[in-house]
Amino acid sequence: MTNQKRFHSKQYVLRNYPDKISKLDLGSGEYPEPGYTHLDIQTGKDVDILADIRWLPFPDNFITQEIRAVHVMEHFCHPEFSSAAIQKQIGTTTSVLKEVYRVLSPGARFVMVTPDFEKISQSVAKNRIKLEQLQQWSVGGHRNIYDVHHWLWTKADAIRWFTKAGFINLEDANPIRGWRKIRSLNWQDPSRMSNPSWHETEWYHWLFFVGTKPN
Ligand SMILES: C[S@@+](CC[C@H](N)C(=O)[O-])C[C@H]1O[C@@H](n2cnc3c(N)ncnc32)[C@H](O)[C@@H]1O
Repeated sequence: MTNQKRFHSKQYVLRNYPDKISKLDLGSGEYPEPGYTHLDIQTGKDVDILADIRWLPFPDNFITQEIRAVHVMEHFCHPEFSSAAIQKQIGTTTSVLKEVYRVLSPGARFVMVTPDFEKISQSVAKNRIKLEQLQQWSVGGHRNIYDVHHWLWTKADAIRWFTKAGFINLEDANPIRGWRKIRSLNWQDPSRMSNPSWHETEWYHWLFFVGTKPN
């Protein structure tokens, strides 16, 4: 388990990133995105900054282009359904969005990729995917305490919570559902790009949601 004392401090960040950070991959885990600075609560592959997303060790407006969080935002609780004690222990979707917004520069964007609960349930109802897939997406991998899902988002949640945090130019940018070309999200991970079956069984059911901090 991560000991908070080992987390990198704001002083460490300012010393090592004197020109600010342009692109940050939050909760990079086993799939660190090339071209990004990687932050995670656990040490691991290519982690540059060890920190908790709920309390980012950055001054305001420090990330100048983009923050990306892929399969991370489902690890936080619903801001109303959960109790105050659970919210304090786990963190909420809205408090994390507020923190992300704080550290983004005006004009920079937040890209969230998370299971799309609406799409997953529709596919289960039509027998397109197995019930077990819904179960797995619902609870997470359970390999450790940071691998547990606390809320599955719908697009309506994203619109409501991104708006509440102050984001504008909201976009549902799922490349598989046809609204956007994959390149516009600058997705480079070859292991995910090269497997077409993933595109149907996984990507189709992911919510790719983008918001911008206003200038
Ligand atoms: C399911 S993995 C996603 C990894 C990767 N982004 C991907 O695309 O597969 C979730 C990651 O978020 C990290 N994480 C969970 N809670 C976190 C927190 N409060 N602060 C920082 N990282 C966290 C976990 O350690 C884990 O690496």
